[in-house]
Amino acid sequence: MQITKASDAVGAIVEDVDVTKLSDEQFTKIRAAFRDHGALFFREQQLTPEEHIAFARRWGPIDFNRFFKRREGYPEIAEVLKEPDQQLNIGGGWHTDHSYDEAPAMGSILYALEIPPSGGDTLFAGMAAAYEALEDDMKAQIKNLKARHGNAHIFGEESEYRKGFEGRYTNADQAGQTAVHPVVLPHPESGVKGLYVNPGFTLEIVDMDPAEGQALLQQLYGHIMEDRFHYRHQWHAGDLAMWDNRSTWHYALNDYQGHRRYLNRITIEGVALG
Ligand code: SIN
Repeated sequence: MQITKASDAVGAIVEDVDVTKLSDEQFTKIRAAFRDHGALFFREQQLTPEEHIAFARRWGPIDFNRFFKRREGYPEIAEVLKEPDQQLNIGGGWHTDHSYDEAPAMGSILYALEIPPSGGDTLFAGMAAAYEALEDDMKAQIKNLKARHGNAHIFGEESEYRKGFEGRYTNADQAGQTAVHPVVLPHPESGVKGLYVNPGFTLEIVDMDPAEGQALLQQLYGHIMEDRFHYRHQWHAGDLAMWDNRSTWHYALNDYQGHRRYLNRITIEGVALG
């Protein structure tokens, strides 16, 4: 098994390994690489849904996503699907999964079943590298801030955005919860500080004038969106990607109109933050 950095800021590629047959020693190395790099990319896996679930369970209990359509017969698996005639893609903007929960999902494990002939890459951003590169005065400004995250604008009954997904999102009546988390998050396992706000689900900075809070968020987002903090994953069918939602963002590009893209995602339970 070989593990090599995918980029300076985020991710590692894991090669020459079959995730259905990992020894405890290999799994320990993979777990350490996941903590250090925030995202892992395994090539050429051949997983049944049962094997995908079994691999996910090695990381912890499954966090059943309540808003994605589930794969029939497998409630653990959320479908990330875009048909050739559909316009919107799931995850088509920078975000991190589940930040609207008190205990956001620790990680997401995404398995590629059908990939368009070109396009459909996913961008990842490393939150520790982005935090580290901030100016000292910005670090001081955001040190003790908290932000509120929510999901009604994406998954709720009134969300025009959700309505464009033609049944791929479910349980709109269960949306609406919010959660407050630190803007600078010491990672729950490594203790390394990273930024924990995202354009998808962060609503506001708590106890700050709304306009000032939005300006600050936009400034942080602009910084994180710089290429130097990214890795771009070009998918092949059989790729398995997993990312830590507490230390990365991701963004599924929607540049393959007229083609089908179908992946299966399982999210793993996390802990309450900060
Ligand atoms: C997601 O946001 O979980 C989907 C990512 C992707 O489709 O690449």
